[in-house]
Amino acid sequence: MTGKFRRIESPEIQEYEKENMERARKIAPECMVLLKSNGDFPLDNIGKIALYGNGARHTIKGGTGSGDVNTRHFVTIEEGLENAGFIITTSEWLGMYDQVKEESHKKYVDKVKKEAKEANANIAMYTMGMVEDEPEYELPIEGEGDVAVYVLARVSGEGSDRRDCNGAVRLTMAETRDILELNKKYKRFMLVLNVGGLVNLEPVLGIGNILLLGQLGSATGNAFADVLTGKSYPSGKLAMTWAGTSEYPSSGNFGDINDTYYKEGIYVGYRYFDTAGKTPLWPLGFGLSYTSFEIKNAKVDIAEGVVNVTATVKNTGNRPGKEVVQVYYSSPAGLLGKPYQELAGYAKTKELASQESQQVSITFKVSGMASYSEDRAAYILEKGFYDIRVGNSSRNTHIYARIRIDETIETEVCRNICECQEIITEDTVVNCISYADEEYERDTAPVINIDCASINTVVHRYSGDAEEFIQNKTISWEKLKENPQEIENYVAGLTDSQLADICIGAYMEGDGMGSVVGNASYKTAGAAGETTNHIDGMESVVMADGPAGVRISTSYKITGGVVKEQQSSLGSQFIEFLDEEQMEQMMAMMPVPSKEEEDLPVYYQYCTALPVGTAIAQSYSDEAAAVCGDIAGTEMEIFGINLWLAPALNIQRSPFCGRNFEYFSEDPVISGKTAAAITKGVHRHKGCSTTIKHFACNNQETNRYASNSIISERALREIYLEGFRICIEEEEPAALMTSYNLVNGEHTCSSRDLVTHVLRDEWGFKGAVITDWYVTSAMMKDQRSKYNEASAAGCVKAGNNITMPGMEQDKKEILNALKDTSFKYKITRADLQRNAAGVVKLVLGLV
Ligand code: BGC
Repeated sequence: MTGKFRRIESPEIQEYEKENMERARKIAPECMVLLKSNGDFPLDNIGKIALYGNGARHTIKGGTGSGDVNTRHFVTIEEGLENAGFIITTSEWLGMYDQVKEESHKKYVDKVKKEAKEANANIAMYTMGMVEDEPEYELPIEGEGDVAVYVLARVSGEGSDRRDCNGAVRLTMAETRDILELNKKYKRFMLVLNVGGLVNLEPVLGIGNILLLGQLGSATGNAFADVLTGKSYPSGKLAMTWAGTSEYPSSGNFGDINDTYYKEGIYVGYRYFDTAGKTPLWPLGFGLSYTSFEIKNAKVDIAEGVVNVTATVKNTGNRPGKEVVQVYYSSPAGLLGKPYQELAGYAKTKELASQESQQVSITFKVSGMASYSEDRAAYILEKGFYDIRVGNSSRNTHIYARIRIDETIETEVCRNICECQEIITEDTVVNCISYADEEYERDTAPVINIDCASINTVVHRYSGDAEEFIQNKTISWEKLKENPQEIENYVAGLTDSQLADICIGAYMEGDGMGSVVGNASYKTAGAAGETTNHIDGMESVVMADGPAGVRISTSYKITGGVVKEQQSSLGSQFIEFLDEEQMEQMMAMMPVPSKEEEDLPVYYQYCTALPVGTAIAQSYSDEAAAVCGDIAGTEMEIFGINLWLAPALNIQRSPFCGRNFEYFSEDPVISGKTAAAITKGVHRHKGCSTTIKHFACNNQETNRYASNSIISERALREIYLEGFRICIEEEEPAALMTSYNLVNGEHTCSSRDLVTHVLRDEWGFKGAVITDWYVTSAMMKDQRSKYNEASAAGCVKAGNNITMPGMEQDKKEILNALKDTSFKYKITRADLQRNAAGVVKLVLGLV
């Protein structure tokens, strides 16, 4: 633990909380995307405002599940506007809406209770991630004033996917009716989207001002007031294409309990819309501003295999703002089909005052434009012209140079992985978008010839079987800390049983499933887990959830040297679904605190809720993302947390994924760069790092513990793995979490291809790999599932260092697999040693 660790005895708000709240508020406008603007905003005066909508008072700070954050307080929109001095003229409406909400919630709880009873289901599992559809209502619109805001909110969470129905991804009839009515009735009207992902806005597209506020954590309401009044301004850009829900290429191939076919292959998001010539509502990279910008003088040059694009951005409007310059490339179709264009990089300007200019530069490797050929088991840069495009959204790019490659070059020679037994990719109809001057631009753009000999071919070598470490001296943990190069000697001195313990998280013997999902640490109350505490002398590292802040309990006591939370870090939403009998049973199971325990001091640990992942990605700002990492890092140090179980960078393949709000983008470059920037922020703190998750293809929540993503290797590598590679290359995190799902029939955590061959052999990842929580438990998967739970021995075989959070049955399985030659995953003592060495290295690096 660093010197900043504290046990806070005062329930009063602390200095770090105030500072972090202000920092979060400052970056929040960078995450907001102005989707439509008619110039009526920002407001010149703070006065009366008519505030409507389900998110006005019941604002959503972030999604539910392990990514939720237990804050002291967060600022709702209503509160933020009041703080700024507005007089809200619709208190009556908001009060009546509270009643509507309460009544519909009661009905919902009764319905779910009944269904769960009929299904004879465990209520906690049954209700996990369940989201209540927003209610229909009929309330008078009578708020005074010229200005109105309607806040439309949607929540989603871990454990279930979103639904394409009214009150979920679609608007209710009441919402549509009121939004259209308000737009007519008030002089200035703004629709504000307090959402973590897509809502189908087709019925209300005609209105003049739409702000995608997002879910911005603790500071949400204050940050909104800042942009409404022009104290700040939105400068985010979409990191996912917004289109009608049936338009996405994953439509019809999403959310199967068993096998989900990724038929669209690499044509995800804008790669699909641009190539198929389909017009989205708003394209990737799109976002308006309170001012206007001009991007000019774009120049492209290449040195030592790196493309450098520079461009000048001028603020041509009357207000300050920030612009994001985006660089895309269009590569030649040849052996492989190619999307119309792909994002190579981006840069955000500093704040530009009216008429101010700035030159920005974006670099990327020539080899980064290669595609994966399964036939050649290699990344190839096909011969032909690569058009380099510069612009401020995927639908507003212009060609500024063409890179010519005369021969097809293999940039990396690999081994095929995660074999897909079927050909499942369906050809995307190529009907690429175009614009008036495109041909002219292509004809007149400067051509840069690449000297093919200057592009290296990397030939990967793959690990074979592990070799046993032989001990040549005994070494204690304390001595090992001074001489970390002696890891092999330390590990060689451990028994099989100790090695097995190191390969699973800290658990209490006889505790079965351990404590509660996502709450299994002995040192920090409410932290999700810890490395083993079973080896005398060896220290452990504590892991706490994210990504929208640090999720731990808000208060705790210490009994018998172990922390005991006073409120559940996971919330107890399921409690309202219990009937009297179940409630009594639960209460009877609760340990009654002794008199001494009651007298023990209470300690407090309040953390700051950050913008959700999608919102951070929308900032297109490494600095803003790093501030988020830095805030989390500050709180990790104070509360003794070493590994943040964040960021989460799964690809937003479908708008219906229940956890999209935690994820960044449909594009791997945005995902990887945002994850790297956040990690950089965390790395400013001693003993702290990130755990990038969930590796890979965790793109749906339906039967998330055992659903199988069936995918071509090209799509797997280019779309779903690439972000992880970028993050690891730019700012290596100390750990990576594998996902629950299977890829082409194998759980990712026991896929040697993914965990060893790609991650370590190809990318050189040096950190530790951990599983997602309880992936080895049969209880967690959907009982209709055709695939089994994962195996702890399989994890060892694959090179997945730790099965989390750790259960006795995991240890038993590992020890059995050592002896039983008929076991599906036969492992050796050398496998165990290699895995344990990775854990020891992780701990040494962080304690
Ligand atoms: C989630 C992870 C999380 C873990 C620990 C799992 O259910 O999928 O994202 O880090 O729990 O709470």
